[in-house]
Amino acid sequence: MRKIAVVNMKGGVGKTTTAVHIAAGLAARGKRVLLIDCDPQGNVGHLLRVRSPLTLEQLLLGEAQPSDVIVRGVREGMDVITLTPAAFSLEQRLAGATQRETVLSRRLRDTNGYDAVILDSSPAMSLLTYNALLYATEAVIPVGMDMMAIIGARQTLRGIAEVGELWPDRRLKLLTIIPTYVNSATNATKAALEALDRDPQMAPHLYRPGIRQCIDLNYATAQRSTIWEYAPRSRAAEDYTRFLDFVEKPGKEAKHETSEVRTLHGIQEKAQTAI
Ligand SMILES: Nc1ncnc2c1ncn2[C@@H]1O[C@H](COP(=O)(O)OP(=O)(O)OP(=O)(O)O)[C@@H](O)[C@H]1O
Ligand SMILES: [Mg+2]
Repeated sequence: MRKIAVVNMKGGVGKTTTAVHIAAGLAARGKRVLLIDCDPQGNVGHLLRVRSPLTLEQLLLGEAQPSDVIVRGVREGMDVITLTPAAFSLEQRLAGATQRETVLSRRLRDTNGYDAVILDSSPAMSLLTYNALLYATEAVIPVGMDMMAIIGARQTLRGIAEVGELWPDRRLKLLTIIPTYVNSATNATKAALEALDRDPQMAPHLYRPGIRQCIDLNYATAQRSTIWEYAPRSRAAEDYTRFLDFVEKPGKEAKHETSEVRTLHGIQEKAQTAI
């Protein structure tokens, strides 16, 4: 079972959009997928028009079982665990919990039967983000075409490396860094791509050509649909389809070799059980 967390400490870089499209794309390709919202903004539930009285919050607090919080059949092959703004104080409530960074991993330990679990995260290295990273085995970092997003991506890489140092038995690897809002006509995009190319830690992991800026993604979000549902002929639909090819078979499309997903800088790969 693949476990992919979509993370960047910078807000508004396309994390939710990317997480939803990885999940929906894999499901459309016949995989059994569980999408988990680890961001109290609750954007996943909003985007996919799904509500649940029991959310990740109750699961983490031990007040509900996975089967209580999983919303089944949100799309064919895709189940979802939502989160809502009610969980903004969750961090404080979990503060006293034993091994609070691995609560999610323990609560989902017996959740099997999926080919992939995809996790959306909030724009912060919060306790929920730690939980997502300690459950996941692969990380995807979307990065918007501005310097702040690149700084956010660097901070996120450091956060991931820190997770590897503090929990060396975890098998978290960087799957890819994916440029989003790419508009090659603008200087901002050129400067951002150049900066990413110059960065020795990020350049080898860059997925090219990334996801182009596409207003249809905004409209799709407003219509609470995926881009394939809303505008299947749009360039965003094309770009996310191509990205899904990469996610399914990393190495075929990446700019540099990734014949096997490479271990993140500073993280020792140890083939052994997660949690
Ligand atoms: N490539 C793109 N082109 C144009 N608009 C996009 C693109 N990707 C995402 N968007 C739009 O930008 C907005 C923010 O995207 P999204 O919610 O995915 O970002 P996020 O990183 O999850 O934000 P947050 O950090 O607040 O969780 C959404 O309205 C989305 O539809
Ligand atoms: Mg989001």
